[in-house]
Amino acid sequence: MVKAVVAGASGGIGQPLSLLLKTCPLISELSLYDVVNTPGVAADLSHISSPAVVKGYVPTDFKDAAQSAASMKEAFTGADIIIIPAGVPRKPGMTRDDLFKINAGIVKGLITAVAETCPKAFILIISNPVNSTVPIAAEVLKAKGVFDPKRLFGVTTLDVVRAETFVAGIVGEKNPGKLTIPVIGGHSGETIVPLISQAKPSVNIAGEELDKLTYRIQFGGDEVVKAKDGAGSATLSMAYAGYRFAEKVIKAVSGESGIVEPSFVYLPGIEGGEEIHKLTGCDFFSVPIELGPSGAQKAINVVKSANDYEKKLLEACYKGLNGNIAKGVEFARA
Ligand code: NAD
Ligand code: LMR
Repeated sequence: MVKAVVAGASGGIGQPLSLLLKTCPLISELSLYDVVNTPGVAADLSHISSPAVVKGYVPTDFKDAAQSAASMKEAFTGADIIIIPAGVPRKPGMTRDDLFKINAGIVKGLITAVAETCPKAFILIISNPVNSTVPIAAEVLKAKGVFDPKRLFGVTTLDVVRAETFVAGIVGEKNPGKLTIPVIGGHSGETIVPLISQAKPSVNIAGEELDKLTYRIQFGGDEVVKAKDGAGSATLSMAYAGYRFAEKVIKAVSGESGIVEPSFVYLPGIEGGEEIHKLTGCDFFSVPIELGPSGAQKAINVVKSANDYEKKLLEACYKGLNGNIAKGVEFARA
């Protein structure tokens, strides 16, 4: 049984994600932290007849740094897993990198509190731009002397979920969840690289259809931002994806074996990651990860089997991704 924390729990992702976590029988304590509204969200969820005991934490005066830190400390202490969807979402016309200005500082503050209160927790970062917020988190944890690459994950599951759904639509598979499709690289536009040639079971998609599919997976987030027309970005599909990844981490930590899911990790710190690091030249990269009791047990090298079409996509990915990573590292060190 684990203690799970959601930081940003009152938001568009935070609320449905917290609902799904409340239904998980492996969670005994669910701690909801946000700068607004968590007492209401916690009271609401606490009426659901599942084991997790829910508590909401909000700084009574978040302009007061000491008070703010105290409330975060209370919320985070004893956490086994912390999931972070705190921060602002996109509006039409914005890139994820446009969110850096606000979200970089939010993630830096939250990870500082994690380092001080629950350094052994598995950290799952949803806040965008993931390509930069995960490197920021790593730098903060390094500076505090508590960085364990096996415990820090950027959540890229939504790209995988989209790939499953869109491919199923093309090949006429009625249950998209039956497909396994590696989506690797980063989490924005051209840094998202679907490896359709490695779909299981294999699929036959080529030419213009493959171009359109690849674009749709890379820019699926834009579809939702456009449809929401100023009211934010993906929340419900993200809550599903965030829960799917969190549940897999919790199950692996609880002893279940054979669990694999792509995630954005610090490659040199994970078994099998150095080989992928050499091929990609990226310190942080999303690849299928075998999860185990200590977190990211092994990085699986799907890069080496990419076909020529995918190698071209990867070349475009490396350039953009390395820029995003460097921006995060520079911010955290400043
Ligand atoms: P939202 O505005 O609905 O919710 C964000 C929540 O964060 C709000 O409740 C806000 O009060 C809270 N918050 C702000 N500062 C905080 C702080 N310092 N501490 C704790 N909580 C704080 O936004 P959303 O739609 O839930 O999106 C949240 C983030 O997730 C955005 O950055 C978005 O781009 C990102 N996102 C990522 C993915 C992904 O695939 N990784 C998918 C969708 C959205
Ligand atoms: C997504 O992929 O839906 C998220 O990263 C949110 C966004 O800004 O598109």
